[in-house]
Amino acid sequence: MEQSELLELAEKERQSQKPVRIHCCTSTGCRAAASLEVQKSMEKAVEDWGLENQVEVLGVGCMGFCGYGPMVAVSPSEQLYQKVTPEQGESIVKAVNQGEATAEKADSNHPFFTRQLKIVREHSGQIDPEKIGEYLAVGGYQSLYQVLYEMTPAEVVNEIMKSGLRGRGGAGYPTGLKWQTVAKMPPGQKYVICNGDEGDPGAFMDRSVLESDPHRVLEGMAIAGYAIGADRGFIYVRAEYPLAITRLQKAINQAKGQGILGTQIFGSPFDFRIDIRVGAGAFVCGEETALIASVEGKRGTPRPRPPYPAVSGLWGEPTLINNVETLANIPTIIKKGADWFASIGTEKSKGTKIFSLTGKIEYNGLIEVPMGISLREIIEEMGGGIPNGGKVKAVQTGGPSGGCIPPDALDTPVDYESLAKLGSIMGSGGMVVMDEETSMVEVAKFYMGFCQEESCGKCIPCRVGTVQIYELLNRILNQEATSTDLKKLEQLCQMVKQTSLCGLGQSAPNPVLSTLQYFQDEYTALVKGD
Ligand SMILES: Cc1cc2nc3c(=O)[nH]c(=O)nc-3n(C[C@H](O)[C@H](O)[C@H](O)COP(=O)(O)O)c2cc1C
Ligand code: SF4
Ligand code: FES
Repeated sequence: MEQSELLELAEKERQSQKPVRIHCCTSTGCRAAASLEVQKSMEKAVEDWGLENQVEVLGVGCMGFCGYGPMVAVSPSEQLYQKVTPEQGESIVKAVNQGEATAEKADSNHPFFTRQLKIVREHSGQIDPEKIGEYLAVGGYQSLYQVLYEMTPAEVVNEIMKSGLRGRGGAGYPTGLKWQTVAKMPPGQKYVICNGDEGDPGAFMDRSVLESDPHRVLEGMAIAGYAIGADRGFIYVRAEYPLAITRLQKAINQAKGQGILGTQIFGSPFDFRIDIRVGAGAFVCGEETALIASVEGKRGTPRPRPPYPAVSGLWGEPTLINNVETLANIPTIIKKGADWFASIGTEKSKGTKIFSLTGKIEYNGLIEVPMGISLREIIEEMGGGIPNGGKVKAVQTGGPSGGCIPPDALDTPVDYESLAKLGSIMGSGGMVVMDEETSMVEVAKFYMGFCQEESCGKCIPCRVGTVQIYELLNRILNQEATSTDLKKLEQLCQMVKQTSLCGLGQSAPNPVLSTLQYFQDEYTALVKGD
């Protein structure tokens, strides 16, 4: 396909769109609240009133306001409705021409929406993820075309380096540097893996990206493949994400059908094939070496690094492994340029980050914010604070590998280094807000219970240590522990951190250590003397 054909296809698609588009969220959260029935009722109303030439109803991806679904948005009037019932669907269609809908209006001027800066989620909730034409209409796959015909692989790697993009899967490793390492390996078989395992409790950012805009991730992977010299890619998604898997598979089939994936993409010499691998839902399989073992059909357990996957990964070949959100940033970086991307965020943390904002908070859901925004702005302004005027006691970021941040640190900017300084991590984007009713020792026990269950058992410090820490926390909560046990708890945490084989064990003690640091009085109130 020539570029002119690609642009023509996009234009044709835009021309075929109806003047009024009613977007109904059909992602997992809203589906659970009967959004498919809402969609059907609106489609029926359009048909009943003969509005087919004027109005179209689209099943779209997540709009971010998941706690208030089913969400419906009308364009161009920009009306936004929340908690829509199938009975109210008809009134939304009717209101296109006259009157008011009976459905509850959402406040689209609330900071929850207005403070967001969307790069990865730019088209989430705006396009039908099951139709490639919708993606093409918003400029989809033009970045892939651009790199294939206007840039050398080395120029692509340089652009990603210059952008300052860092991995969104947890550790924040510079993406360009990782690409460069794989690109510099001698030519031969190389692979791209997209990590969509997302096992942290409370996190659903990657699921939402895959469900809402799957082509964006495929485009990011293909650009990565071209840059590093790979002709095969795998997307690893957990079996608990059936809708993401279905939509990804549809997207892959449609892209292949258009000659955008497969052999001689856009008529160039570049071949790139993508396959899905479904994981069985073990948290440890998100760790890159365990994930690679799982893709190879082996038991998903980590192995020591080095060698890193960039040097010896899938079937022993150089492998680039990136998170869903990392790869989803790529098409926009190519389109708008590294300088544009690097102008967003802080000195060392560029671009935006998606968080799943949950817990004791007025507005929960998914937000994409520029790096450097403060935790206070996110929690108090965007999230509307604690319901009924309650006070924040702690914010947990980074899931089981992260920590609990106290309220006097709420003005901390959200970036990799600042969160690490506080004893937490950015992680993949879980953000749980806790109020004053929360027992921080219970919180530490919850996360340790999770790690204990998810430990693969390969190394002793993690296999045995997480159980011992969990039992100690239990004894503390049952008021059976002494202050000597508290000291033991800290020592045990340090030992597990320093001697475990992989990131699961190395970071499992973080929730305990951070609560010990900031909420020590809650522990001491529960223990007896020596
Ligand atoms: C226990 C554990 C679980 C992980 N789970 C995920 C995950 O679900 N998704 C992910 O992208 N990275 C996960 N990671 C990080 C990956 O090992 C790897 O660093 C990441 O996929 C690299 O991509 P990035 O550079 O784009 O962040 C996990 C790491 C550990 C130690
Ligand atoms: S640290 Fe835990 S999860 Fe990682 S290899 Fe050791 S036992 Fe397995
Ligand atoms: S799942 Fe519908 S708004 Fe997020």
